[in-house]
Amino acid sequence: MRKAISVFMTLFFASNLLLAGCGGGESGGGASKPEVKSAPSGGGKQAVKIGFIVKQPEEPWFQMEHKFARQAAEELGFELLELAGIDGEKALAQIDNLGVQKAAGFVICTPDVKLGPAIMSYAKRNNMKVIAVDDRFIGNDGQPMEDVHYLGIAARAIGEDVGKALYEQLQARGWPVEETGVCAVTYEELDTAKERTDGAITALIEAGFPESQIYKAPQKTTDVNGALQAVDILLVQQPDVKYWLVCGMNDSAVLGAVRSMAARGFTHEDVCGIGINGTDCIDELKKENPTGFYGSMLLQAKKHGYETAKMMYEWVTKDQEPPLDTRTRGILITRENFREVLKDQGYEI
Ligand code: GLA
Repeated sequence: MRKAISVFMTLFFASNLLLAGCGGGESGGGASKPEVKSAPSGGGKQAVKIGFIVKQPEEPWFQMEHKFARQAAEELGFELLELAGIDGEKALAQIDNLGVQKAAGFVICTPDVKLGPAIMSYAKRNNMKVIAVDDRFIGNDGQPMEDVHYLGIAARAIGEDVGKALYEQLQARGWPVEETGVCAVTYEELDTAKERTDGAITALIEAGFPESQIYKAPQKTTDVNGALQAVDILLVQQPDVKYWLVCGMNDSAVLGAVRSMAARGFTHEDVCGIGINGTDCIDELKKENPTGFYGSMLLQAKKHGYETAKMMYEWVTKDQEPPLDTRTRGILITRENFREVLKDQGYEI
């Protein structure tokens, strides 16, 4: 067996040298392999490399984006570099790292939207194209960088759908309005997050919910714990609210709120939370006993992962520039329908 491997290795390196000698070469060979340009010749074609950098690799949403981008890579035949950029320093280092690896471009959900100009200049100096996914870059003038290709959610409309669904639940449950509060877990530093919670709040007010009973709980970090801590504070400030409707920028925000409320004795009978993403609440919806997490607006992770990676591939290989601004919508999932809807949308659960 060992002999067979050594014969294979000798042949492998010999063929690589041969290919290198005539200007081709496979990607990913031995480290000592001579550096070769990717000019395809004689059948030896270097695989196109595309990076996919995400801000929160621990969040199922981003794992789904990576998974669907991987599917695009397998189907279209490019090499996908799945990377994490959890803060500014790491995200920018990943861009230089992609440059060293001769990636042609990358898709990124930045850990901080204000990094937009720096990301674009790092990409430029490494000769790479950029697509921003989920979180839109903000320029030095404080405005969205509209010249950077972006795919994200129709945040306000999805937020409004959350607000409308919460109001319907309020009515269906017959909770007395005067004893009910809205807990909006906010993260207003991020435009797509603010649009979502503003949309939900506006829809609730338009439906007739009293504005004075809508309370914001600003989260410092965008994970379950950040939301839990924010809502702990709100519950101390509002001890008289008997029923809670909950919205937030995503599932983690609403899960944090539901946990904080559960610790104070609230159950699914007096809490109704609707998240956004639909990917980060599956375990919650699978629980045998219902919790205050009623449902979520399931987003299209496949579009965010598969389509952006494909757009990048077509841009770098066929010079097909993607649209500057693409927005996706969501569908409400609850304990009743989530298995069916997730399956229809191409998720395995
Ligand atoms: C932001 C959020 C994610 C997800 C995406 C969807 O990046 O942090 O949880 O909601 O938007 O675009």
